[in-house]
Order: sequence, then C-alpha cells, then structure tokens
Amino acid sequence: MKIAVIGTGYVGLVTGACFAGGGNDVICVDIDEDKVRSLQRGEVPFFEPGLDEMVRSNIDEGRLSFTTDIALGIRESLLIFIAVGTPQTENGEADVSSVLEVARSIGENLDGYKIVITKSTVPVGTTEKVRDTIKSLTDQKFGVASNPEFLKEGAAIDDFLKPDRVVIGVEEESVGSVLRELYAPFMMSADRTIVISIRSSEMSKYASNAMLATRISFMNEIANLCELLGANVSEVRSVVGSDSRIGRYYLYPGIGYGGSCFPKDVKALEKMAHDVGYEPRVVTAVDRVNAAQKERFFNKIVRFFDDDLDGKRIAVWGISFKPNTDDIREAPSLYVIGMLLEAGCSVAVHDPAAMENARAVFGDSVDYFESYYDVCNGADALVIHTEWSQYRQPNFEMIKELMKTPVIFDGRNIYDYMRLEALGIKYLRVGR
Ligand SMILES: NC(=O)c1ccc[n+]([C@@H]2O[C@H](COP(=O)([O-])OP(=O)(O)OC[C@H]3O[C@@H](n4cnc5c(N)ncnc54)[C@H](O)[C@@H]3O)[C@@H](O)[C@H]2O)c1
Repeated sequence: MKIAVIGTGYVGLVTGACFAGGGNDVICVDIDEDKVRSLQRGEVPFFEPGLDEMVRSNIDEGRLSFTTDIALGIRESLLIFIAVGTPQTENGEADVSSVLEVARSIGENLDGYKIVITKSTVPVGTTEKVRDTIKSLTDQKFGVASNPEFLKEGAAIDDFLKPDRVVIGVEEESVGSVLRELYAPFMMSADRTIVISIRSSEMSKYASNAMLATRISFMNEIANLCELLGANVSEVRSVVGSDSRIGRYYLYPGIGYGGSCFPKDVKALEKMAHDVGYEPRVVTAVDRVNAAQKERFFNKIVRFFDDDLDGKRIAVWGISFKPNTDDIREAPSLYVIGMLLEAGCSVAVHDPAAMENARAVFGDSVDYFESYYDVCNGADALVIHTEWSQYRQPNFEMIKELMKTPVIFDGRNIYDYMRLEALGIKYLRVGR
C-alpha cells in the first residue's frame, strides 16, 4: 500500500520503517528540516535499538523516503498516518494543534479518496475534529480512523512488529477492512486486531497508559508504607505479582514514572474528565503520588547529609526515563538533578545514550563523563536513576575506592543490600 506518515519522531519513524519493512511504499514527512536531511542520509537522529539498520535497508531498497513536502506525501498515498507530537499544555491538556495543522494541510491537498488515521495519542473527539477540519476544506471523499500506538521506547520495533493488539477505531466498516489488511502481516500467529468505535479507540489509549501508571503509583505507595512499617517491598511485590489475577508487570517501585507518555496522558485524562464535569479521583491520585515519589527520593538524600548538601559532589548514573532510550522527557532524573544543583551540589553525570539530550537541558551546570566509573571520582554519593544493564553488576570495590564517601541512593532497587553493606558501602533504596 502507499502510505504517508506525518511526523518522524519515536512513533512516526518506527511506524514508517516497519510498514516499509512489510513491503509498503512509505513517505515520511516532518517539518523539521534538519531531521529530514539526516534521515535522507539514513541517519536516525535519536536512539532506538535496531531502528538505524531498518531505516537504512528500507531506503536502500527504495520503499522508504523522507520529505518536508506534506503535499507530496498526501498526493502519493492512500493512507495518511498522523503521528505528530501532542505535548502537554500548561493546564494539563494535550496540545492537538499540530494534529489539526496536519488535518488542514490534508484538506488543502486532497486530490482523491484517502484514509486519514490519527496515530498520535489524542483526546476523545479529536479524530472527529480532524474529519471536520478536512471536510471544511475539500469536496473530495475520504475516510478517517483512530489507530493509537502502544509501542514502548527501547523495544519499539519488536512491539510494532509483534503487537499485543492493534486497535482500529472507525465509523465505516470499509475503512476498518483496509486497515485490517495493512496490519495482517503482523497478525500471522493470531489475529489481535480490535476494531471499535473511534471514541472508544481514543479512550483505550488513555485508559491503558493510566492503568499502567496506576500500578506504578500504587506500588510506590506500598513501598513507602513498607519503609515505615519495616516490610520489604521486593518481597511484597513478588507475592502480589505472583497472583495470576494481578500479574507481575509494572509493579516495580522506584522514583516514579517519567517519559513522554505516562505523565502527559494521565494529566490529559484528568483534564478530559474535568471538561465533562467529572472528578477523576484515582487518576488525580496517580499523578500526585508520582510527583511526591521524586520529592521523597530527593529528601532521602537531603536527610542523609543532615540538611546540608552545599558543596557536595554527587555522581549520577542514568538520566533517561528508562533504559534503552535517549528520551529524557519528564525523566525523574531531571527533577532530582535540578534539586541537587539548587541545593549547591556539584553534579557529575553518566548515561549510555542520553548525554546529548541532557546537555540541552543542563548545559555547563553539570559535568559529563564517558565512563560511569569516572563519574564516581571524589563523589560524596552515587545516585541511580535508570537501571541500564551496564550498571547492574559494576565493580563495587572500584566504586568504593573512587568515592569520597561510599554511599549509593538507588532509585531502581537494582543491588543486593547485604552485599553492599558487607563491602562497607551504605545503600539506600526505595521500599526497605
Ligand atoms: N514516544 C512514545 O513512546 C509513544 C508511544 C505511543 C504513543 N505516542 C504518541 O505518539 C505521538 C508522537 O510521539 P513521539 O514520541 O513520536 O513524538 P516526537 O516528539 O518524538 O515526534 C513528533 C514529530 O512530529 C514532528 N511534527 C510536529 N508538527 C508537525 C507538523 N505539523 N507536520 C509534520 N511534522 C510535525 C516533529 O518535528 C517531530 O519530529 C504523541 O501523541 C505521543 O503521545 C508516543
């Protein structure tokens, strides 16, 4: 099929590359000229495992191209996926202005029947706004659909190629059939396509993300209670997660969730509820617990140093909001590092992929190191924000040797307490 994907971020580029990999002809469109130029050279401007190779091979085989010319993308395609960003505005709602701007371009350039699909995460009713915007600008016939994306950064290609489910929201059966056919190659083992109404489809994305965020905030609350009541949250988690009605995913306590989806989607769901006069108590609490969890972690560091962080040297492992991505949007590390700096610390950071993005936020206010051991040199404490695999079994003797005072604040609970204490390293974690 001939496909245009508008927006070449984490979602749009993975979508474009995976559809091209399945034999479709894909044109990816973006307004960011630098990004498009680097993609035309086969260079992916962000880190996602396996994406470089996939983009390059599909360019070489002539199925994937990049342009800033949206009219060209629209003219050449039957299916137009909108995958632009929908960031959070100041009042918490999702900003759909880029989605509607794309809808206007589609309306102005439609030259025959096309199907327009919102893949961006958008508030309930937005795909109808996309339809109405296009309709107000053209007499051409077109179809619309909602097809929210559920991929996880760091495992995006695998998630796209082997999805738990593909959700297709439609108002016409014929549109649903075309999209079912498009996704059929990813459904060889079993059909996991769910065709529903457009509004249910839009809502299902927010409900899924809010449910996952709820599990994390719930376990963070249990972890805090474990600390106060002398229980061990890892032991508690293993019991809770072994219940087949609950399952063991997304039950890890820590310094709170971050990233470009959970924080903004929880907020947007809260705003959607308020807009229809409903008080969403659970969703609001999920967000509050998450904010408090970062503060609680930082306060642990403050208390350890008797309320005096001024002049302390703090080593940081991990800036990205989770491993295997360079994405630092809403990462808990940003809050903690910001607070450390405000308290007068000097901060040395390491992250295997996110250093460039960190530089854009912190500039020269922190020191950047290529080696995660060098970060520890002369440090009063080591703070772990991200459970990158290389941090999991470090040489603790060397760390102890390098640090001024051997103390680790672990926001991800990745080490064995007994082992570190035996080595003479003070180890402070979450939920114990
Ligand atoms: N990142 C994820 O893990 C993830 C997962 C599922 C869903 N989503 C949703 O998918 C959407 C995209 O997220 P992302 O992380 O890929 O965003 P992103 O910020 O990485 O990329 C968005 C891209 O859209 C481009 N863009 C903005 N306005 C444009 C316009 N008018 N025309 C053409 N291009 C334009 C930007 O230049 C950018 O390259 C969001 O709604 C997000 O909530 C994201």
